[in-house]
Amino acid sequence: MKESVDFQDFVDEVIAKNDIVDLISRYTTLKRVGNRYQALCPLHNDQKTPSFSVSPDKQLFHCFGCGAGGTVIHFVMAKENLDFMEAVKLLAEKAGVPIPDPRSQGERDRSAAIHNKKKRMYEMNSEAARFFFSCLTAKGNEKALEYLRGRGLSNSTIKSFGIGYAPDKWSALIDFMKSKGYTLEELLEGGLAKKRDGGTYYDVFRDRIMFPILDVRGNVIAFGGRTLNDNQAKYLNSPETLVYKKKDNLFGMNIAKNSKAGQFLLMEGYMDVVSLHQNGFDNAVASLGTAFTPQQAAVLKRYADKAVLCYDADEAGQKAADRAGTILREADIKTRVLTITDGKDPDEYINAKGGEMFKLLVDNAESFIEYKLGKIEKQYNLEDTVEKIEFIEQIAKILANIKNQVEREVYIKNTARKTDISPESIAAQVQNVILKNKKANIRKDISSDRRTYEARTGGRDDLEKMRLYNAEKLMLNLICEKDVFQNVVKTLTPQDFTEGLHRRLAEIIFKSHTENRKINPMLVISEFPEEDAGRISEILSDDKNVDNKKEAIALPLKIIKSYRLKQEEKTLTDHGDTQKLQEIMNKLKKDKM
Ligand code: CTP
Ligand code: MN
Repeated sequence: MKESVDFQDFVDEVIAKNDIVDLISRYTTLKRVGNRYQALCPLHNDQKTPSFSVSPDKQLFHCFGCGAGGTVIHFVMAKENLDFMEAVKLLAEKAGVPIPDPRSQGERDRSAAIHNKKKRMYEMNSEAARFFFSCLTAKGNEKALEYLRGRGLSNSTIKSFGIGYAPDKWSALIDFMKSKGYTLEELLEGGLAKKRDGGTYYDVFRDRIMFPILDVRGNVIAFGGRTLNDNQAKYLNSPETLVYKKKDNLFGMNIAKNSKAGQFLLMEGYMDVVSLHQNGFDNAVASLGTAFTPQQAAVLKRYADKAVLCYDADEAGQKAADRAGTILREADIKTRVLTITDGKDPDEYINAKGGEMFKLLVDNAESFIEYKLGKIEKQYNLEDTVEKIEFIEQIAKILANIKNQVEREVYIKNTARKTDISPESIAAQVQNVILKNKKANIRKDISSDRRTYEARTGGRDDLEKMRLYNAEKLMLNLICEKDVFQNVVKTLTPQDFTEGLHRRLAEIIFKSHTENRKINPMLVISEFPEEDAGRISEILSDDKNVDNKKEAIALPLKIIKSYRLKQEEKTLTDHGDTQKLQEIMNKLKKDKM
């Protein structure tokens, strides 16, 4: 953006090319009234009075019900839950406005080089996958295909997953890939070959059934290999490479993403996924030989908001299901848990009992919360008073994580019935835990901003300054709301913000509120030099997900105020004004309590 293209020009063009009436009419029915349009507000639950108004002349919208308003950008921000830059990008893409590239020529060259290298690695992996597949039917390898047959796989399943066989030789793949023009270094880097001490190379995968791992776009990014002889690790997986990041990918996702099922079945193993697909469950995926990650949850969430955990019935499987369930719920994915009895995994189960029976299990899977509560219930004897109290404490911890109030209430009522304790008392206990979590979260957020701070201020600094810096950021975000602002305006001035950009932003916010103008992020951004746009939009859009802004302000306010008092204390000590000093110290003491 430094180079010639002015950021504001870009934003203006994006606004100009996205007609606000066109855009909003995709979300709600607009009715012409005089020189503007009226509608039920698509941003809040507006059922009766059309409180939403769009002005084609000004290219602005406003809702008198929920108070939202602004340009197309603000509409997209609110509707799609995006931050400023994300919304601008989305609209730019929609209208075909080229997005200015803020990178230098050097950076662009580097990223082009990485892009080419990745492309070459994808091609190499596809080539290897084709080789492994062809080995299934090569002479001498009959046992591989027999093995797959023995496990019940059909030709079309083998084909659609591209399952193959790595021969029992030291350089079958290496020799083939060399003939296709790939170097030993490339094979090494792609995790397909290894180097001996003597400097010679050998195939990583030998005498194994090969499962290619594909990303959502269909590139072959890695392999999982199952041994055909029992004397070594059952599965061997590709290491992480330039194109393979375990935590971001799921096995089977390239197919499952197109499923119409509306939910994913999450399993542990390659064979589970393959078997399930063969039986018509095209929504089965597996995390790759590692614990399920939040990044994988985010991938699932792009395609569906429901998942069923189908982990093995053994203890390890149940532990893994516990962790995966927590991660899925945090990603706002409705999660249920399917329990397979008699120690089988999904693959064995479906082979023994068939798809119909498995479908029954899926349809009757209990919610993750029920599953967790059930497990806790088994640990306590509710006839015993002490155990009952502990039971409620454990239950409260789980219920505190339920964001949906109705859902929470259902479980509170159930627990009340089971324990013969009033729903009110249980609800109070749950609220306690929620409050505790919230405080802990704000603390965690502030400290996780540390790295950003260090990057920005060019090095490590003392912890106090860092806390102050982040407190200022959060404060600036929160006081954009008028009623939050009114709660602090008596104790806070723009001068209390120590960082230059923060202070300027504070001045603008204070001025707008005193003049009774709503904060308009776009106008605010345009008052800053273009290189600050990112920082400003970050501050304005990152509210740390606090849901009660008036409460959330307490901690940053305390940090800012006590820093100011300490500064005053320092000046007064330097000047030897003992009386004033005593006043300040009293205030500081009071703040600590
Ligand atoms: N796994 C792994 N490395 C191992 C063992 C297991 O990466 N040494 C991963 C694989 O993704 C495997 C999954 O964990 O698919 C589940 O392991 P397991 O239950 O032991 O194997 P199954 O999938 O049941 O394999 P099979 O049915 O072929 O025995
Ligand atoms: Mn198995």
